[in-house]
Amino acid sequence: MMNPLINLDDYREAARKRLPRFAFDYIEGGAESEGGLRHNREALARIRLIPRRLRNVARRDTSCELFGERLAAPFVVAPTGLNGLLWPRGDIALARAAARNQIPFVLSTASSSSIEEVARACDGDRWFQLYVIHRRLAEQLVRRALAADYTTLVLTVDVVKNGIRERDLRNGFGLPMRMTRTLVCEGLAHPRWSASLLRHGLPRLANISRAEPGDTELQAALLSRSMDATFDWPGLTLLRDLWPRRLIVKGILTVEDALACMRLGVDGVVLSNHGGRQLDDCIAPIEALENVRDSVRMPILIDSGFRRGSDIVKALALGADAVMLGRSLLYGLAAQGEAGVDRVIALLRGQLDDTLAQIGCSSLNDLCKEHLQIPRNG
Ligand code: FNR
Repeated sequence: MMNPLINLDDYREAARKRLPRFAFDYIEGGAESEGGLRHNREALARIRLIPRRLRNVARRDTSCELFGERLAAPFVVAPTGLNGLLWPRGDIALARAAARNQIPFVLSTASSSSIEEVARACDGDRWFQLYVIHRRLAEQLVRRALAADYTTLVLTVDVVKNGIRERDLRNGFGLPMRMTRTLVCEGLAHPRWSASLLRHGLPRLANISRAEPGDTELQAALLSRSMDATFDWPGLTLLRDLWPRRLIVKGILTVEDALACMRLGVDGVVLSNHGGRQLDDCIAPIEALENVRDSVRMPILIDSGFRRGSDIVKALALGADAVMLGRSLLYGLAAQGEAGVDRVIALLRGQLDDTLAQIGCSSLNDLCKEHLQIPRNG
């Protein structure tokens, strides 16, 4: 009998076994030395929880309100590119699991199912994440997301340039994917993975591969797969005018940038360092949270390194409104598809509920800094 999967390390291991090395490394990898990746976990671990006793916690509630909507748990499915590499129609599997569990799902610009395909397959709360590779392409994507009834636009601002991921460089992994010798050998060594890939084909960048064939400047930008590094605050102002619904900026790490977003009419921010995939020596978002919370009055989401319910409790006690889950859900997806995503959500929700009981809180609203021992610099 297979060992039961009881925590995220187990799902991570199951994902590692099912996937070819280059695909697992693509999910797992961080920038350069991966010190930043480890730091995200260490910064969360350094905060300790302080329990209160003799409170009636027989009935507990993990639901919360975000932007006026009720979520079953303070989770949002983070945008991740190329989910089709992990499981056939991986974006749709994630979106459906999110809808079933009453949490929002964010579709990446670099998704393997298109904006419209995901909209047709899933009627939950769908958000669209935008990378500005080229401004004309960005405008087209925004209009498509609007037409397909995505409720929220998430602009990612921490990828001015793709991070240096040494695992991908070593494995020769890049886009577009080609049937190389390594891919074929890896496929033979991972028959369950390659059987599904053979049935569904190599994943593609479904939103952008069909963009404007006649527009050579745009095609050049797509081929180089680099971002428009000229995109700045005035660019955000234009985007604000283009998108009438909720707008969130992802990748913020300072009070000043959060305030600037607020002044431009942005509705919320995600404190994130892209899961340690961009700037190796970056601070962890959890280290920025307290100051940002004290300075801005708008919803704050956070991600990067959240693997247990207790991590989520720490962020909420520091004032975050919800946590975006990246690799945690990708491990579930890569190991067991849509059912695996369901199980990881249930697992994290169970751990969240347990931590609430252990520290003497019956709802997420009871969480505050009094439950935390926070390390201070110096
Ligand atoms: C990402 N992330 C990401 N972010 C984004 O805005 N657009 C994207 O296309 C992607 N793609 C992507 C792929 C993979 C494989 C990973 C692991 C991450 C970043 C993601 O949204 C989120 O910020 C991090 O994953 C959060 O960190 P954890 O939870 O993975 O530690």
